[in-house]
Amino acid sequence: MAKHVTVLDIQRMRDHGQPIAMLTAYDYPTAKLADEVGIPILLVGDTLGMVVLGYESTIPVTVDDMIHHGAAVVRGTKRAHVVVDMPFGSYQTGWHDALVNATRIMQETGCASVKLEGGQRSAEAVSRIVEAGIPVMGHIGLTPQSVNAVGGFRVQGKTPRDAVHLIADAKALAEAGAYAIVLELVPTALAHMITQRVSIPTIGIGAGPFCSGQVQVQHDILGLYDELRPKHARRFAELGDAYRSAMTDYREAVEAGTFPTAKESFYMDDRALELIKRMAPGPEQDMSMAERVLRELQDVSTRGS
Ligand code: KIV
Repeated sequence: MAKHVTVLDIQRMRDHGQPIAMLTAYDYPTAKLADEVGIPILLVGDTLGMVVLGYESTIPVTVDDMIHHGAAVVRGTKRAHVVVDMPFGSYQTGWHDALVNATRIMQETGCASVKLEGGQRSAEAVSRIVEAGIPVMGHIGLTPQSVNAVGGFRVQGKTPRDAVHLIADAKALAEAGAYAIVLELVPTALAHMITQRVSIPTIGIGAGPFCSGQVQVQHDILGLYDELRPKHARRFAELGDAYRSAMTDYREAVEAGTFPTAKESFYMDDRALELIKRMAPGPEQDMSMAERVLRELQDVSTRGS
């Protein structure tokens, strides 16, 4: 059985200058695909609320939502390190609640670590969770759970005062025992400075190329939504178009009667059909339709043999 990526492996990648690719995942099939192509860290982000559940922000996402989706991602994963976000309200009320919820998330999903937002303000919760044996990833810069307090999805740390505060946040998280820190929407130069000033990996999203790794929301890089096009995300595919085209083809085929064909149907012995006719006589047109399909199936099986 393949070994799962651990926090030590992640630290080793950072120490060897090996850029770390992290990607969000919210369900079994896409976790399986990401795992198969070797993405080392899968984040079950609370962006779940926006890209999967259709909310306008991450605020309504609950611990139960995170557990439901986190467990599916873990089931789809053989090698990746799965980190699950602690949603809004699950740690802001004090370190005790934070510990209870982190424990539940780890126990009920089987994930390898949890992530929570905030620097100095979350340091105590981080250290209590880490002391309990649960690895924690920090998250500073734009912290979407505080979007109402910071006035929108905007770049953080642009003034000297805010920048110094962010550096102190990163140091506080590292001291509290976090194994990595997400830097979201931070100017490139500041993200570089933070990366140089802490000894744990920094994982950027909209934080430029000098972080130890990068994280992106899967739906953004796969081009699933036309209306969500963050500047920091590159669209590596246009799956929204691919989905629409395949679903249109399916609808048109059903409506035109060209799906399913005999190839996509199941064979029944003609003697059995005769018997059924006698046991359960039906309207003539039904039986003639059944006979037509049967003849088609027989043609297919004769051609195939
Ligand atoms: O919830 C999430 O997907 C995240 C990433 C944007 C880092 O926290």
